[in-house]
Amino acid sequence: MVGGGQLARMTHQAAIALGQTLRVLAASKDDPAAQVTPDVVIGAHTDLDALRRAAEGVDALTFDHEHVPTELLEKLVADGVNVAPPPSALIHAQDKLVMRRRLEALGAPVPRFAEVVDVADIDAFAARVDTDIVVKTVRGGYDGRGVTLARDVAEARDVAGRYLADGAAVLVEEKVAMRRELAALVARSPFGQGAAWPVVQTVQRDGICVEVIAPAPRLDAELASAAGQLALRSTQCLAGGAPGTREVRAECKKQGMDAHRSSSVGGSLAFQPLYSLSAARGRRYTSLLLRGDVACKEGR
Ligand SMILES: Nc1ncnc2c1ncn2[C@@H]1O[C@H](COP(=O)(O)OP(=O)(O)O)[C@@H](O)[C@H]1O
Ligand SMILES: [Mg+2]
Repeated sequence: MVGGGQLARMTHQAAIALGQTLRVLAASKDDPAAQVTPDVVIGAHTDLDALRRAAEGVDALTFDHEHVPTELLEKLVADGVNVAPPPSALIHAQDKLVMRRRLEALGAPVPRFAEVVDVADIDAFAARVDTDIVVKTVRGGYDGRGVTLARDVAEARDVAGRYLADGAAVLVEEKVAMRRELAALVARSPFGQGAAWPVVQTVQRDGICVEVIAPAPRLDAELASAAGQLALRSTQCLAGGAPGTREVRAECKKQGMDAHRSSSVGGSLAFQPLYSLSAARGRRYTSLLLRGDVACKEGR
């Protein structure tokens, strides 16, 4: 696990129940996850040598946060490390422009957006949309940093100009009139099986998520299902499509699992039995966790 924060610590807790152990690449031995695992590598997530030390002999390498440079991860992949999610998928969590373009290409409902290379691009965008404008840095955003809701076009120009002067890539989005924010958490196995958790409502204050209500209260069942489906479809596309039934059956056989029995659940291979079986055998399967923001309409 690259990063020793709270998420790494919670992942470790879940991993124990699955018979897995976690090595952590932490900035300091006092990091939350470093306090609870005996296997700690001290180093930075931007240091290739530290990443290589952390990756030595592991079944899979995964992340506590999305800020690990993909150029370094490509090197680990070339070393033969099982990086999951792969850098080609992780990039969508790092780069809001890549994420927006990909979600749009998937046909997901995204707010109108534009890349800003010059403040004049803001005027062109403002002429296109009749809403307030949100200015964002393309990368490095975190807890509301790098996100500004501009009061007017002049302020949007101002903010974008400052970001650009700092050398940051910038995008603008139309402000979505939101009733509330929902989040769908899904995981995907390398076999293309998916799991979706109940859709939650998140409460943001100053761009920081201060509260999560699970499940989201009074959420229309159809919308909840659509949110989960969209999230699953996104992860499937980012992972380059799912393997076919034949590959899954072959993998089951390799693991000594009865593919016929496993396929009896819901007509397709069940995520849970295969996942726990693979975990028990200490094999290298990791779920794919990503993020992407969409906007859709809730009924009255
Ligand atoms: N286009 C938008 N319209 C309305 N509110 C937005 C928009 N983009 C972001 N926000 C608000 O700002 C918060 C942080 O923006 P986000 O792009 O998710 O940044 P972060 O990288 O910090 O998660 C969102 O959770 C939402 O409350
Ligand atoms: Mg966000």
